[in-house]
Amino acid sequence: MEKLIEQIKSLQARNQAVILAHNYQLPEVQDVADFTGDSLELSRKAAATDAEVIVFCGVKFMAETAAILSPAKTVLLPDLHAGCPMVDMAPLEDVKAFKARHPGAVVVTYVNSSAEVKAESDICCTSANAVAVVESIPRDREILFVPDQNLGAFAATQTGRPLILYPGYCPTHARLHAEDVLRAKAAHPGALVLIHPECRPEVTALGDAVLSTSGMCRFAKESPASSFIIGTETGLLHRLRLENPSKQFFPLAESAVCPNMKKITLEKVLFALEDNQFLVTVPEEIRVRARQAVDRMVAAG
Ligand code: 13P
Ligand code: SF4
Repeated sequence: MEKLIEQIKSLQARNQAVILAHNYQLPEVQDVADFTGDSLELSRKAAATDAEVIVFCGVKFMAETAAILSPAKTVLLPDLHAGCPMVDMAPLEDVKAFKARHPGAVVVTYVNSSAEVKAESDICCTSANAVAVVESIPRDREILFVPDQNLGAFAATQTGRPLILYPGYCPTHARLHAEDVLRAKAAHPGALVLIHPECRPEVTALGDAVLSTSGMCRFAKESPASSFIIGTETGLLHRLRLENPSKQFFPLAESAVCPNMKKITLEKVLFALEDNQFLVTVPEEIRVRARQAVDRMVAAG
């Protein structure tokens, strides 16, 4: 592994590349990255970086968001098959039909969506700013929330706004159930329960805090508590443990693994740098419309 890391570092310097990794990536991929973060932080980093090449260790919609924000840069996804089933639950035609049933409504779209669906939207959001984004919309407007019904339900509860929810969800977070929370609390009394808003509403309702992945990292660092039950994909535990060596972290369920996030390996990061693969681009006509929705999100949240 040392040799592989050395090769990655030297090619990275030669290609003037930045390596960005999502908080769910394999531990060794997180460790080789220049920056590890949640979807919102990664899109901000992608927009701000001076690097010519962005190696995006995450899933395709995240690399696409980087390409939407930085069209002049080379955005590489080390495995083209690293997708997100929630994105696939909201094909363009279905989203258009959903919109057609609610003419005049504002469309709020989670970044876990295709570029073409973003292009059909008024404003994007991530798990870190969904509540702020919904709050930024005038109260007399009807709002459609696409595609995550669970994040949408959470934003509706927090804002008191009656959101109309598209029926998408994350299969990994759907594996977490209320009984898992009750079992984990009984096994680890005193531990605080941190829940990702992609979880089912009955799970979210049991959390001491509902946060994005980087929100969980900040919360754990700042909290006086010494143990935490983590209700999200298990990849986040690596970063939490690294940053808080004196605290304890327990996964809500070991089964909460996103197979797509785990498709990126160190070997594939090296191949990406060696062969400039796999290039992620967004057709300009879609990109400019998607960009408006992403820019409005950045301005609102
Ligand atoms: P975060 O933006 O909270 O990191 O979540 C991204 C994601 O895909 C969660 O499943
Ligand atoms: Fe998609 Fe869920 Fe994986 Fe996030 S954890 S990338 S929402 S499948």
